[in-house]
This record gives sequence, C-alpha cells and structure tokens, in this order.
Amino acid sequence: MKTVLITGGAQRIGAEIAKTLHDNQFNVIIHYNESEQEAKALCAKLNNRRQNSAQRIHANLASVDEINQLVGVIENIDLLVNNASVFYPTPLENCTVNDWDTIMNINLKAPFLLSKGLSKKLKQTQGCIVNIVDIHAERPLKNYAIYNISKTGIKTLTKTLAKELAPDVRVCGVSPGSILWPEQKAELEPHKKQIMLERIALKRQGSTADIAEAVLFLANANYITGEVINIDGGRTLHQ
Ligand SMILES: NC(=O)c1ccc[n+]([C@@H]2O[C@H](COP(=O)([O-])OP(=O)(O)OC[C@H]3O[C@@H](n4cnc5c(N)ncnc54)[C@H](OP(=O)(O)O)[C@@H]3O)[C@@H](O)[C@H]2O)c1
Repeated sequence: MKTVLITGGAQRIGAEIAKTLHDNQFNVIIHYNESEQEAKALCAKLNNRRQNSAQRIHANLASVDEINQLVGVIENIDLLVNNASVFYPTPLENCTVNDWDTIMNINLKAPFLLSKGLSKKLKQTQGCIVNIVDIHAERPLKNYAIYNISKTGIKTLTKTLAKELAPDVRVCGVSPGSILWPEQKAELEPHKKQIMLERIALKRQGSTADIAEAVLFLANANYITGEVINIDGGRTLHQ
C-alpha cells in the first residue's frame, strides 16, 4: 500500500480524489480545516472497506506553524495532492492586502511549504506531487485577480519543483475547468452558469471523477514530470 496526503480532502473534489486513490491501493491521509464531520464520515466509510486505511489530520493552511505541524506528523508518504484552496472574487477597486495574504498563503505558500517539508520523505519513496491548478492560471478570470495569480504561481511551482526534485520525485498538475459550481461568496447566478456552459466545447461541466481519474493517472505515470493537464471539456478552445 502506498500513502497519499490530500489537502482539503474532506469534501467536493478533494473527497473524490481520496476515494479514487483509496480504491486504487492507496492508504489516505485526509487533511481538513473546517469540514471535520465530513472528514470523520469519509474516514469511517473508507476504514469500513479496509481497516486502518484512512486517517484525518486538521490544519489551517493559512498558518505556517500548522503547516509545519502537519509535515511533522507525516511518517511516510508516496503522494502529496495539493488540492485545498480558497476562491472568491477580489475586484481590483476593493480588494485588500488581507485578501492577497489569505489567497496567496492558502493557494500557493502552503503547497510550496508542504512540498518542501515533505520532499525528503517523498525522495525516500521515489514519490510524486500532484498540484490542483486551474485553467484560469493561463487565461485569467475577470474579478478574480488574486486567485488567478495564485494559480499561475502553483503552475510554475509544479514545473520548478519538477526540476528541483528530479530525478527522485515527479511533480505534475491537473488544471480543472468548470467541475463544481462555486459556493458562498463566489456563487454564480443561473444565467452566468448558462453562459459558462455554452463556452465549453463539450457543453457540460466535468465531474469530480474526471479530476480524480487524472490525478490517479499522473500518480502512476512514471515517465511524466513537470506536466500540467487541462481537464476542461475543451473550455480553453473557446477562450
Ligand atoms: N470546483 C471547480 O469547478 C474547480 C475549477 C477549477 C479549479 N478547481 C480547483 O480544484 C481544487 C478543488 O476544488 P473545490 O471546488 O473542491 O475546492 P473548495 O471546495 O473551494 O475547497 C477545497 C478545500 O480547501 C480547504 N481549505 C480552504 N481554506 C483552507 C485553509 N485555510 N486551511 C486548510 N484548508 C483549507 C477546505 O477544507 P475544509 O472544508 O476542511 O475547510 C475545502 O474543503 C481547488 O484547488 C480549486 O482551485 C476547482
């Protein structure tokens, strides 16, 4: 059995990645911040299928101390999936330094520090890092400047760490298009969802399984490093 740490693994795309990897011979460490109940329930479900195959770890990835604590409790690891992120609009005229710090710390600094902190252990297992990027790393989404920049950062992080950590550790990325509609502060009105769907060549959203399967593929793709794959139903063809 290999071991994977998935950040933000309790719900939505992260939970699907955890389930898919668990179905494919990985023991899973599900990191969470606020979704404690979801993390508990998912671990219970996975441990029911295979004893001692899932555990949960809490950390607020906005805090460097908590990132270091998380790194410190991981004993061995074959795969790190940097999935956790925050997504909300930051129109230029009213976004703040606090927004910059929040988004950049969680979406970019945390994946960097986790990768750095776990690199020795990943080298020992000839392991892999998969970063969850976003197609807006390349083609920015209006009103989301800080998020776009954070995702461009993690795309470059993927390529630069692929160089730094070669030949022992592969580093790849998956760039989702529209998979699950955003919630809360980033929720979209129905007509905006319709406009977005019309711009996708395949005329529909992707599924969480589409992302999880891509992560699994990269985890097993022993001759791929430094690559970021778009999983977007052809959305970028129309941009
Ligand atoms: N949804 C899409 O269609 C889409 C499109 C393009 C790219 N993506 C990318 O795909 C990944 C997953 O997307 P998603 O929509 O499933 O993400 P999400 O629900 O917005 O967030 C994923 C997780 O990030 C964790 N997180 C947020 N702030 C945190 C903090 N301070 N400390 C620790 N964890 C924190 C949360 O964990 P808790 O719930 O435990 O707090 C949350 O469950 C993200 O990297 C996203 O940028 C998604």
